[in-house]
Order: sequence, then structure tokens, then C-alpha cells
Amino acid sequence: MKYNKDILTTIHGSYPGIDIQVYTDRVIPLEDMKIINRRFMGAGISQNYASIYWQEYYIESNRFEYVVEIGSQKGSLTTYLANMAAITESYVFDTFEKFPHQDWYNRPVEGVGHWVDKLNEISSYINVHHGDIFDKRSFDHIKENVEQFKTYMFCDGGDKAAEFNMYAPILKSGDKIAVHDWGMEITMDQIQETCDKHGLVIDEPFAQSATDLETWIMPFKKL
Ligand SMILES: C[S@@+](CC[C@H](N)C(=O)[O-])C[C@H]1O[C@@H](n2cnc3c(N)ncnc32)[C@H](O)[C@@H]1O
Repeated sequence: MKYNKDILTTIHGSYPGIDIQVYTDRVIPLEDMKIINRRFMGAGISQNYASIYWQEYYIESNRFEYVVEIGSQKGSLTTYLANMAAITESYVFDTFEKFPHQDWYNRPVEGVGHWVDKLNEISSYINVHHGDIFDKRSFDHIKENVEQFKTYMFCDGGDKAAEFNMYAPILKSGDKIAVHDWGMEITMDQIQETCDKHGLVIDEPFAQSATDLETWIMPFKKL
């Protein structure tokens, strides 16, 4: 079968600020799997490759029934978590993005929203929300699901400490919540009071794994 060549485009990743042909003249070192802000499935991701390995085994080990990503951005981690939900049919996935026209639908900067929207249409396991995570509507939606499902929340929006302090208190025993940019955009002193009051502790050995893999992720479990 011959395909129509007209379907091919070069718009994706065409923004001049995007790195291209990074390894054309050099061998890829294993250490580069730890670099944050790479391309994954052709889309921009604000994680490192090692974090995908970490997420895979974190989710498998815990057998979550509900996974929430706060801050979809370009949608590369979203695509991964969404596909895992649909492939395993073991959890329902929600992702929230307040400013979808910034990166999500922006093909030159490697936004992948055009594709995740299609996944959203075809799979009941995948749910894309263009809304503010601090809105009552978002909060009520998540709370209702948390009450029903074993939950994992990944705080990666614009204010990780505020996200943790808002959502950690509604978790049940055995639920988990992880934050990205640990030690950079969020520190222990910002969430200590919530942890003490609501029984959240650092989730070992996954926390150590996340640190060793330089993911900048810190996971917590509700006792
Ligand atoms: C660090 S990026 C997310 C990276 C993405 N999770 C990844 O791994 O590639 C943070 C995103 O959160 C979004 N954001 C900021 N404030 C928000 C809010 N109040 N509600 C929902 N999304 C928000 C930003 O627009 C941005 O796209």
C-alpha cells in the first residue's frame, strides 16, 4: 500500500529554541538518561528518562486505581501515564492543565495535546482536563474519585507546595502523593505541617530510588 506523502509535516519541534540532532556528533552516554527536559515519544518532557522507569515500577508496585497528574504542560508524561492506564486497564487517569494554549497545543515546542485529545476520546481510562487545579470544580472531582479509588497524585503544576497542601489532606491510608522539583520548587518546611497533621511520610525505598536516579521526584505515603 502506498501512503499519501501529504500527511507528513515538519511543524513538530520546529521552534528554534528546541534542541535538535543532539547526538549527531557524539555517542550517547548512559548518564544522559538522568537529564531533565528531554524528548520522549517525540514530545517535550520535563522529566528525565530514569523517571519513566521509576514511575513504571512505582505504579506497578502500588497497584493504584486512580492516577492524577497536576500540570500536563506539553503532554509527554501525560501520554505515558495515559497509555499505561489504557493498556493495563487497571487505573483511571486524570491530567489537569490550566494553560493548554501555552504548550499543550503548541506543536513547534513539541506539544502533544493534539494526540492526547484523541486518546481522551477513545478511552474511558483517560481524562484530559483544561482547568485550574485550585478550582473547587477540580477539587470536588478529584475528592470524589479519591474516596472511591486507591490514589496516586503527581504534583507538577505551578505551585507544588500549594498542590500538596491542598490535596494530601484528602488522601486515604495507603494512598500516595509525589512532588516534582523537590528541593528546588518545593521544600520540606513548606509541607511539614500538612505531613504532621495528616500522617504523610516519605515513601521509602521509592524516595531513595527517585533521588539516586536524579528524577527530582519525592514520593509520600499516607499512613
Ligand atoms: C512543570 S510543568 C508540567 C510538566 C509535565 N508534568 C511533564 O512532566 O512534562 C507545569 C505545568 O503546570 C501548569 N499549571 C500551572 N498552574 C496550574 C494550575 N493552577 N492548574 C493546572 N495547571 C497549572 C503550567 O501551565 C505548566 O504547563
